[in-house]
Amino acid sequence: MKALVLSGGRGTRLRPITHTSAKQLIPIANKPILWYGLEAIAQAGIRDVGIIVGDTAADIRASVGDGSRFGIRATYIPQDAPLGLAHAVWTAREFLGREPFLMFLGDNLIKDSLKSLVDRFSREKPNALLLLAPVPNPSAFGVVELSGERIVRLIEKPADPPSNLALVGVYLFDSSIFDAITRLKPSGRGELEITEAIQLLLDDGKKMAHQKIERWWKDTGKKEDLLEANRFVLKEMEDDNIQGEVEQCEIRGPLAVGKGTRLIRCRITGPCVIGEHCVLEDSTIGPFTSISSNVRIVRSEINHSILLEDVRLTNLPRPLADSLLGRGVQITRDNSCEGSLRIMVGDQGEIQL
Ligand code: DAU
Repeated sequence: MKALVLSGGRGTRLRPITHTSAKQLIPIANKPILWYGLEAIAQAGIRDVGIIVGDTAADIRASVGDGSRFGIRATYIPQDAPLGLAHAVWTAREFLGREPFLMFLGDNLIKDSLKSLVDRFSREKPNALLLLAPVPNPSAFGVVELSGERIVRLIEKPADPPSNLALVGVYLFDSSIFDAITRLKPSGRGELEITEAIQLLLDDGKKMAHQKIERWWKDTGKKEDLLEANRFVLKEMEDDNIQGEVEQCEIRGPLAVGKGTRLIRCRITGPCVIGEHCVLEDSTIGPFTSISSNVRIVRSEINHSILLEDVRLTNLPRPLADSLLGRGVQITRDNSCEGSLRIMVGDQGEIQL
């Protein structure tokens, strides 16, 4: 079986971070979201992985390479424009051939193993196997309507959802999906929707199976989702892994600290991960905070946040919480400002005071 990972798209809901980087490469606990998916695919025994790429193709290639670090063989498949998940599948038709395949949305983070799903598909041979999860906001997803245990309808982002069961971004298909895709028309949002293609399979009387998620899953489309995913992943950290230097700190783990990082007179409450070559001084960090490499934090407090590379925080007057800071962001308290705020922030930046 092959896998198709969708890493194109625009990531508009995560601007300004996605002005300069692919949303699938935003780090969760200091590891790109996409890597979790590729590891899960490899763990399920799939080696041949097609990766759909769009405008951010160069970044995705630089991050994943030939796939050997994950134990997979990566083939990059450019999609001219993000015209929908079904359009992405259609774009990959030569790579996929007539074999069954697992489709994985590159911005989804899932804790369940994919192995049992793949095994079930091979055993039962349905035309499609879907993964479902109950969500509090079904209007933001593809939603299924069940009659007993049978799926009777699928709708993409319904205003009036028939259930709270969302389609998770993991699907298994056989080649009958291609015939359904040829019959699709662009949806209200101008995309060829995979949800509508699956509805056509259902209308054709094809064999459909589904499974509910057992552990957790997150579509990391928005800042709040990323922070929640960060909490989920950090919560599973058990051991300390301290490779940098720690001087006069008060630490309640678990904590990971990368090489060349110095923590001086800090109070740290885990779980937290801190990358390489950072300097953190006289600061209070955590819990649930991921700090990428080359970050400098002085006399500041931060919790429940994700900081990308090269961030600088100095003398913050209040704790920074629930925040996502892009590369090179600098926040400084400057007493000469006399009660005013001075800000230079990129397009679509967001500041809450
Ligand atoms: O996360 C689960 C949801 O994913 C499902 O419940 C929905 O039914 C499904 O349509 C999808 O909804 P989203 O609106 O969240 O999809 P999004 O546009 O965020 O795209 C998902 C991934 O696919 C993301 O990594 C970008 C990539 N993509 C997207 C499009 C539209 C492509 O590679 N090409 C595309 O054309």
